[in-house]
Amino acid sequence: MKKVLVGLTGASCSLYGIRLVEELLDLGIETSVVFTDNGYKVAKYELEKDKQYSKGDFFKDKDVLVEDNNNIFASCASGTNKVDALVILPCSMGTLGAISSGLSVGLIQRVADVMLKEKGTLILCPREAPFSEIHLDNMLRVSKAGGIILPCSPGFYLKPNSIDDLVNFMVGKVLDMLNLEHNVCDRWNQ
Ligand SMILES: Cc1cc2nc3c(=O)[nH]c(=O)nc-3n(C[C@H](O)[C@H](O)[C@H](O)COP(=O)(O)O)c2cc1C
Repeated sequence: MKKVLVGLTGASCSLYGIRLVEELLDLGIETSVVFTDNGYKVAKYELEKDKQYSKGDFFKDKDVLVEDNNNIFASCASGTNKVDALVILPCSMGTLGAISSGLSVGLIQRVADVMLKEKGTLILCPREAPFSEIHLDNMLRVSKAGGIILPCSPGFYLKPNSIDDLVNFMVGKVLDMLNLEHNVCDRWNQ
């Protein structure tokens, strides 16, 4: 696993995606990030950033490429130069539905489409409650097409003391699925 693209969409819990980017960079993975328009708005809202706060400001002083979701000319948009994995964290029901239908509108959806058609690693981390039958159907479709559905549902069995512990649990799960060694959270050991 060398190159990873992290997509942040307009579902709640953007902190998970931002923390994942930081951890991937610390592990020496070439990491790029892309927000949907709504992903950027929700991240600013949840993390209490002002209007001027840029996408890059979420990753100050970090060596991360912030892609433009409208730029379908980005190099990772083509199967000839694909990333090793796309992780969409958090993944909105809107983006899930678009991917499950193969819409391929914008960079996140296009790269997801490339991952599925070229058998790359696609991890979607949906966040919604409750799920409708349409959401469940869409997840099943993506899973059958080779994507991994990893819901934003951190466990409590490692006895979290803070929101950071819960975030790190989630990030650790993603890193496990990417087969990356990490110490971001404890492991079950009785
Ligand atoms: C504060 C806020 C929180 C939201 N949380 C969720 C959520 O957890 N899951 C979800 O599917 N949509 C959520 N939405 C709605 C999505 O942002 C909306 O459906 C949007 O069109 C998704 O666009 P995108 O998939 O292009 O990012 C939320 C919206 C707002 C304003």
